[in-house]
Amino acid sequence: MTPRHFLTLKDLSSAEFKQLLHRAIELKKMQHDHLIFEPLKNRVLGMIFDKSSTRTRISFETGMAQFGGSSIFLSPRDTQLGRGEPVADSARVISRMVDCIMIRTHSHDNIIEFAENSKVPVINALTDDFHPCQLLADMQTFLEHRGDIQGKQVAWIGDGNNMCHSYINAAVLLDFKLTVACPEGYEPDEEIVKQAGSRITVLRDAKEAVKNADLVATDVWASMGQEEEQKKREKAFEGYQVNEELMALAASDALFMHCLPAHRGEEVSAAVIDRPDSVVWDEAENRLHAQKALLELLLS
Ligand code: CP
Ligand code: NVA
Repeated sequence: MTPRHFLTLKDLSSAEFKQLLHRAIELKKMQHDHLIFEPLKNRVLGMIFDKSSTRTRISFETGMAQFGGSSIFLSPRDTQLGRGEPVADSARVISRMVDCIMIRTHSHDNIIEFAENSKVPVINALTDDFHPCQLLADMQTFLEHRGDIQGKQVAWIGDGNNMCHSYINAAVLLDFKLTVACPEGYEPDEEIVKQAGSRITVLRDAKEAVKNADLVATDVWASMGQEEEQKKREKAFEGYQVNEELMALAASDALFMHCLPAHRGEEVSAAVIDRPDSVVWDEAENRLHAQKALLELLLS
């Protein structure tokens, strides 16, 4: 049987995505109530990390432990993958032993190749092109604080990166309007934008993009792997900081989200991210609950 993978949000139907968000909220309540629920007893998650992580690693490891299973952290320093063993061979071998594999890597083609050769579900825990797990958490957070996102207005400010691409996919699946404001040369992938049709607008002016927005989201200007472009990007993204002045143009109850880690004083001001009702901490916590709902969907 071909396993069910989660490489982008488009591996879910709209109905499944919504159901998963509601399930995540249920699982969160169960965990906060200290209920023991172990649907993945004896199941093992392999976790391949080619890039750094705090939230993703901790949320997946904790989620598997809470579900009665376990996980193995695999860094390129310790595996033969890091010494050049082919991706396909690694996928064939690892997937004969574990029940599910989570991968954070550079090229999205790598994860596609891995999934094609895996006997068990593969989860994208971030590639250069997509970060679908983060959107599960972001959309759960919006649902908790503001209800259904359908028909709402979302502004993405900054880089047309992996997070932006996943916001575009979410806009299609959950039917919200997305306005992306980015400097020239940092637009999201043309093909991904085209597929989203009329739900998405790409423009230059951040002020225009946040007008009446119910949710304003941003991310670092230089993603993992782009560290040497930091200075150049700081210049290019001048005027794209989400600060109080910009938030004042959004809806009066607009939420601010950031996948974290954040650079205060660059893409976001401290005043915005640290305001007392900031939901970014819920957003980070929800990685745990949303991914547990995902693991349940893929494995039970
Ligand atoms: N947001 C996110 O994926 O965080 P980490 O890089 O810490 O996993
Ligand atoms: N766009 C960022 C997200 C980090 C969670 C990166 O890829 O580094």
